[in-house]
Amino acid sequence: QKDGYDTYMLKEINEQPHVINETLRGRIFDHKVVMKELDDIDFAKFNKVYFVACGTAYHACLCGAQILERATKLPVMTQVASEFRYNDPIIDDQTLCIFVSQSGETADTLAALRLANSKGCTTIAIANVLGSTISRDAMYTLYTAAGPEIAVASTKAYTTQLVLLTLFAVYVAQHLHDNIDTEILDQLAKLPDYVEALIKDEPTFEKYAALLKDKHDCYFIGRSLDYASVLEGALKLKEVSYVHADAYIAGELKHGPIALIEPGTVVIAVATQPHVAAKTISNIQETIARGANVVLFTTDNEEVSNVENIYRLPDVNPLLQSVLVAIPLQLIAYHTAVIKGCDVDKPRNLAKSVTVE
Ligand code: F6R
Repeated sequence: QKDGYDTYMLKEINEQPHVINETLRGRIFDHKVVMKELDDIDFAKFNKVYFVACGTAYHACLCGAQILERATKLPVMTQVASEFRYNDPIIDDQTLCIFVSQSGETADTLAALRLANSKGCTTIAIANVLGSTISRDAMYTLYTAAGPEIAVASTKAYTTQLVLLTLFAVYVAQHLHDNIDTEILDQLAKLPDYVEALIKDEPTFEKYAALLKDKHDCYFIGRSLDYASVLEGALKLKEVSYVHADAYIAGELKHGPIALIEPGTVVIAVATQPHVAAKTISNIQETIARGANVVLFTTDNEEVSNVENIYRLPDVNPLLQSVLVAIPLQLIAYHTAVIKGCDVDKPRNLAKSVTVE
């Protein structure tokens, strides 16, 4: 069942080129996104959009929300489901609410969805499991095509959620605006090849993981979309390897977290967004000056000096970089867990589907 891989997590990481392709299948035609499931929604009636989910799916929402906001200029909010359901959100029949869940059975996400339904919102589920509760309770459902995810740590569900949320943003923009830039659609179609090439670089990411072998802590930094990516990178690392990992907005470093940096501290930085990459790279220099051991993920466009471990990601549309950088961050978490002898597929205290509050 593991197709020759040692673990389900590694198998599922390797399945990503295929399942991203499957998620894209039939969705792009004649430079337009096809989402027939949603064709009777009048997007012009919404004055705001909420994205709601838990854990990794919440991180996918943080990316999806930024992409949708930029594409449509609609105000978009993102909220963790366990907060949304209890915090009396200001929502009504002019609110579009999107709920993202791999399993479709997460108790808090389902409760948040029911609240939105009761307030008259239009609700869309983004699910992976056909016929799951979320798809029955939401007014509309879009499916990722990740296939069964067995490892507790989510990998392929996350990247397919990112792809579907990007398609969704372009789809809504098509409805609201006449002239939209569709260059991103050509690049989306090329993602499986880029992801495949990144997976082939596994030995490099294994080398980065070795830096964490004897460490108790690791810090991740990024700005804008890269912040969502580092939140997910830190979650993956802590859940499978039990290394304490925190993710910070790079601009927040000097407001507190930099006090934690000492000689040998590992800092994983992501700087792929052109409007803020140079800022993050300058924050990295501040950590290096305090002895940090930095691993930097950036693109060819950024000038970097003095950083020992730099990985240059392919130069795609910045809105798609979250999908690419997810691969090395998953592989760093995976190899750190392997080096430490952890049970990668079944981390302690965690269940695959959180059906209780
Ligand atoms: C982390 C992970 C969890 C889930 C979360 C939501 O790797 O898998 O954080 O993302 O429990 O689960 P779903 O998407 O099934 O609602």
